[in-house]
Amino acid sequence: MTIITDKFGRPLQDLRISVTDRCNFRCTYCMPREIFGPDYEFLPKDHLLSNEEIVRIATAFVALGVNKIRLTGGEPLLRRDLPQLIEKLSVIEGLDDIALTTNASLLPNKAEAIKDAGLKRINVSLDALDDETFLSINDSGVRTERVLKGIDKALEVGLEVKVNMVVKKGMNEQEIIPMAKFFKEKGITLRFIEFMDVGTTNGWDFSKVVTKKEIFNQLSEHFELEPVDPDYLGEVAKRYRYKGTNTEVGFITSVSESFCSTCTRARISADGKIYTCLFASGGYDLKKLVRSESDDEIIKQTIASIWSKRTDRYSDERTELTAKNKKKIEMSYIGG
Ligand code: GTP
Ligand code: 5AD
Ligand code: SF4
Ligand code: SF4
Repeated sequence: MTIITDKFGRPLQDLRISVTDRCNFRCTYCMPREIFGPDYEFLPKDHLLSNEEIVRIATAFVALGVNKIRLTGGEPLLRRDLPQLIEKLSVIEGLDDIALTTNASLLPNKAEAIKDAGLKRINVSLDALDDETFLSINDSGVRTERVLKGIDKALEVGLEVKVNMVVKKGMNEQEIIPMAKFFKEKGITLRFIEFMDVGTTNGWDFSKVVTKKEIFNQLSEHFELEPVDPDYLGEVAKRYRYKGTNTEVGFITSVSESFCSTCTRARISADGKIYTCLFASGGYDLKKLVRSESDDEIIKQTIASIWSKRTDRYSDERTELTAKNKKKIEMSYIGG
């Protein structure tokens, strides 16, 4: 098996592919409506990678050692031909895991099709159970009930589900315990995500971050937690189990305990650029190469060469200054 490593010895193991830069939500910390309003110019259709192009790129990555692919957005379920894409990806030899990150609002109608296409698991973003809080976060009129319906539908068709909750000071800290209780009861893993300085439009500030430590302390007042060992090198979440159960809770600590030293992830934007860090300023235009080059070997070599030069470790080096002044791409474009 091929293993390629970057300048710090980190192997290329996972690939996150954004399949659209559009979303039906306007979460205030991700796509604030003042910026992503009616005049915002999303990518035109011909700038998006086609399913065939995505599969070609994914196949090259798998040949270079990637065994895990995650489809993201924007909201990936907005892409009409997503089930066909999943179907094509799921037959790539050597690919062990295909997953999807979604806001779940479209799952009631789409869960069955993506499951039938071969998807095994999804991560659902949900930042509050309380309707008023959730409505003010997503700023698009979608109530909690619709997301919970989406989750139930996903479970019903046999998809494995985890829930992601971004915690931001003044936004939803009061929802930490209600969310934990609810998903513990349902036996679903909930992961708390520290608010990150992705992009340049979400008004990020250190003072708005609720750290893992703060969340953990809150949880400890209600539950007894025991640590769970990581399943593989580079696992993003720090995992715990509610004592006496099989239900887990996790923390994604990009701000307070960065995890760059084991970062094995490459990202492809919806318009086919490769980024070697979530906080990169620019990416290499793989789409251009894919559209002009018929030799798959050249595509593979190009990716390998980009990865082998990689030195990204943004979260390890984050300062108030880089968080504010560095040119960065938006979360909805790169897919988180
Ligand atoms: P699993 O494979 O189920 O563990 O999923 P995941 O946690 O890798 O993916 P998901 O899309 O659910 O992402 C959860 C959070 O982790 C999001 O806020 C991502 O932006 C963040 N995240 C994922 N990978 C990285 C990374 O390499 N660096 C940073 N800083 N954050 C990341
Ligand atoms: N910080 C942390 N997580 C974020 N997400 C979106 N924006 C941010 C941010 N600024 C989350 C989404 C989704 C995942 C892909 O990233 O809520 O769960
Ligand atoms: Fe919210 Fe996710 Fe859409 Fe961003 S991509 S606006 S976090 S639902
Ligand atoms: Fe990887 Fe960049 Fe995230 Fe660090 S900040 S873990 S290098 S994507």
